[in-house]
Parts: sequence; structure tokens; C-alpha cells
Amino acid sequence: MRPTLVCLGFLQAVASQQIYDIWQTTWDRDMLLTYFQPNPDPINFVTPGAIGSADIVVDDSSVYQTIYGFGATLTDSSAQLLSNLKSQNSGSYWQLMDYLFNATDGANSAGFSYIRVPLGASDFSATTYSYDDTSGDTALNDFNIGAAPSYLFSTLSDILSINQWLRVHVVPWSPPGWMKSGTMDGGSLNTEYTDTMANYLLKSLQGFQSKGIPVYAIAIQNEPENSNPTYPSCSMPVATEAQIGLALRSLMDSNGFQNTKIIGYEHNWVDAANYPVQLMQQAGSAFDGVSFHCYEGSVSDQAEFTSQYPDKEVFFTECTGTLGSDWWSDIKWYMDNLFIGSLSYGSSTGLMWNLALDGSGDPILSGSNSCSGGCRGVVQINSDGTWSVNQEFYAMGQASKAILPRDEGGPWGQRIGVSVGGSLSWALVVGAYVTGRVSSTDWDRYSIVVLNWDDSASTTFNPQPVEATIEFRGMQATYTFPVGVTTLWWYAPAN
Ligand SMILES: *[C@@H]1O[C@H](CO)[C@@H](O)[C@H](O)[C@H]1NC(C)=O
Repeated sequence: MRPTLVCLGFLQAVASQQIYDIWQTTWDRDMLLTYFQPNPDPINFVTPGAIGSADIVVDDSSVYQTIYGFGATLTDSSAQLLSNLKSQNSGSYWQLMDYLFNATDGANSAGFSYIRVPLGASDFSATTYSYDDTSGDTALNDFNIGAAPSYLFSTLSDILSINQWLRVHVVPWSPPGWMKSGTMDGGSLNTEYTDTMANYLLKSLQGFQSKGIPVYAIAIQNEPENSNPTYPSCSMPVATEAQIGLALRSLMDSNGFQNTKIIGYEHNWVDAANYPVQLMQQAGSAFDGVSFHCYEGSVSDQAEFTSQYPDKEVFFTECTGTLGSDWWSDIKWYMDNLFIGSLSYGSSTGLMWNLALDGSGDPILSGSNSCSGGCRGVVQINSDGTWSVNQEFYAMGQASKAILPRDEGGPWGQRIGVSVGGSLSWALVVGAYVTGRVSSTDWDRYSIVVLNWDDSASTTFNPQPVEATIEFRGMQATYTFPVGVTTLWWYAPAN
């Protein structure tokens, strides 16, 4: 009888998979990262019947990269606005911080867990500065992490107090001006300072450590193919970035930073086949991976890199919203290209540009011509101490809910295989993820993030809910997705 019992037990386990938990953001904003449970009952996975007009096939035999999370860049400007809010209205500040960063399972929060921080000034700083502005100081005797505004580190500490799993990714917008032609604004590194620059980056890591901020990853140069004379930026040929990477890797390994990753490129999709590939050819041993921005090219370009270097990691680290653009059109684009799309092309992160700005896209560095039209922060913070979250928050929050650890300190989600069939297959864009557990007897969490963009937006706007079937291990669940983004999950024994 024993085999039969085992068999029955297995069937029961499969039959009892159910969808209890749903997070949703709809085109009409009736739902805004809103949590609910199916009413009146959970949705059962049952013996398959006919497929719905879209059929989501989840394939957990294919398991891909770990997702480290979503977030944005904590620019000096973002930190300044947050810090002002804290002084003005600390209750409101802590509410916002919790809504952004609380990564606890089930918290009413986007659970942002990946933050990029500029090393020195960017185009969203109050002044132009580096950590060592003493001309000719090749020994870096005057290196001072305190050149950064104190509100940068106090805000980072506050974020860490809410989310201890936060991953911090640092990157300079420019080397100190004296290592170039005298200014941080545009130009390129004088190559006699290659080793000095590697040492400058090591000292930056030590500086963050002295402020109690652990660094997960460091990149050599933000946007190395962009030199702009109106704000800190620097063009850096592949050979220079490769040399700095090699020197920095060895400095980090001998100074206790063996586990901190080095990331290359940090620039647009469009050059994925060239700069990052050449960087791996010249210095692959130094770099854990490369990162992409959205401003030129398309997300599928990431494959030009991943097809040649499948074992290197990929990060998506920057895209900005522009003031005045359409809320729902933006969410469709973000899900399709970034927070489902970039992940399906191998990214482990999805980040926007400024975490916080005001309603005019300020404060921006005086004289900078970046962000024509005005950049939108993930959060808008107003001078009267009020705040609101933008479309970028909801797009990333919906994706984040699928991959945050189920257990405190537990594993992060990994992408798994998924495809969409049926007559309305084009109406849904879907990502699928599995999140492991601390205890091997607990069931894994399986999540899907579904964009339904069947709204006829190009003709007469006419949003159509899509009745979809979800196939998993030979069982089938049915759910009708409204036009919007839906994240839902179920539990099943580990595969
Ligand atoms: C995060 O949210 C959880 C669940 O709502 C709550 O219990 C916890 O106190 C929050 N954590 C922090 C650090 O605010």
C-alpha cells in the first residue's frame, strides 16, 4: 500500500496549489500596488480544461539568474530632498521610507532593495566636487569621504535601518578634475592617472565602510561614452576602463573587498555588442558583469552581450521618466522593456534614475543641460513637506513583489521559464520567478508578473480584461487580468 499512499500524497500536494495573494496596479488607478485575496475563495490549480484566450505556461525546469531587486539612484539631490522632509515632518518621512524600502514579506511597500550612489558629484548635486580636489595629490593624502554632503550618508543609514538587505552600487560620474584637463565636466582621464584612479576607487570603498555603508558593487565610470561640458561626466575608452578594473580588482582583493563586485560599462543598450564585449576580452577576470542604461538602443541588444558572456552578470541601472508624460503609457513601456523585459534578457536588477525630485525635476546642478524637459523622480517631494509616488514606483513595486525573500534573510527570487500562447497571447507580457525557502520542508513561492496592455490605445482607448489560464506542472488555474499590472503567487514543493 505504501507506494499508493505516497502517490496519493503527491497528487494531493499538487491539487492543493492555490493562488491566495494578488498585488495589482490598474490603468485607471483604481488599484495602486494594492493587495487583495481572491474573493470568495482562493484560485485552485485543477485538472486542465480548455485554455483561456491567453495561456501562460510556467516552466520551472528552466531556472535562470537571481534577481537582486529594484530601486533607483540616491543622488545628492534625492538625499537632500529626503533629508529636508525628515526635518520638516519626520512622521511623513518614515512613512515614505517604509513605503519605498520595507522588504518584509507582505509589507505594504515596494521593497526597493538596490540603490545606486554616485561617488562625488553628478548632474543632481548642489555643487561640483570629488573626494579629493587637491590638484596633483597622486598619493591621495587629502582624500576625504566627508566631501560628500552629510545628508547622503544619513539617508543611506536610514534606508539600511529599514532594509538591512539593501544592496548599494557605487559609481563615479567623473574622476577628480585634476586627473583630467582640470574640470570634472566632460573630457577624459589623463592615462598617467590610471592607477591613481584605481586607488581613488578603493579609498571610496573604505570611505563608505567608515560611514557604516556596505558596498555590494562598484563600477568604474558612469556612461563612459558620454562627455558633456555642462556637468560631471567623462569619456573613457575600453582600454582605460579595463586597466583601472584590473588594478582595482587586485587592490580590493588585498584590502578586504574580495566579495565586492566590479561592474563595467554602465551605458546604453545600443553599444552592447562593442564596449562591454571588448571590456570582457581585455579584462574579463576583473569584472563580475556589466550594466545597461535605456537611452539609446533597445532591450534586446542585451543579448549581444549575454550571448557571448553568458556567465557574466547583467544589471539594468538607469532610465528616467520625463515630466508630463502619460502615466499608463509609461507603465506599459517600463514593464515591457525594463521590469519584465530587461530581466528576461538576463538583468538581475531594474533601476530608475533619481529616487526623489521635486515637481519641477529639481534640484539639478546649476548649468547642467541634462534632463531637457525635466526628469521625474520615482518619488516627488514638495517644499511643503508632502510627497507622492510616481508611475515608476508602481512599475517597479509590482516587479519587486515577485522576487523579495519569502523568509527574513531567505533567498531572493530567480527567473524561471514562461511563455504565452492562445489567441490573445500578444495581450500579455509575463515574467515568472521562483523564490526558495530557508527550510527545505517549506514550499517555494512561484510568482508571475503580468502586464495586460490590451487597451487599443493606438485607436480608440478600449481596455479589455483578458481571461487567461496559467499552466504549472500539468495543472491549470484561471484568472482574468484587468488592463494593468498584476503580480500573483502560489506555493509548491521545490522542484
Ligand atoms: C516592515 O513591515 C512589517 C510588516 O508590515 C512591519 O512589521 C515592520 O515593522 C516593518 N519594518 C520596519 C523596519 O519598519
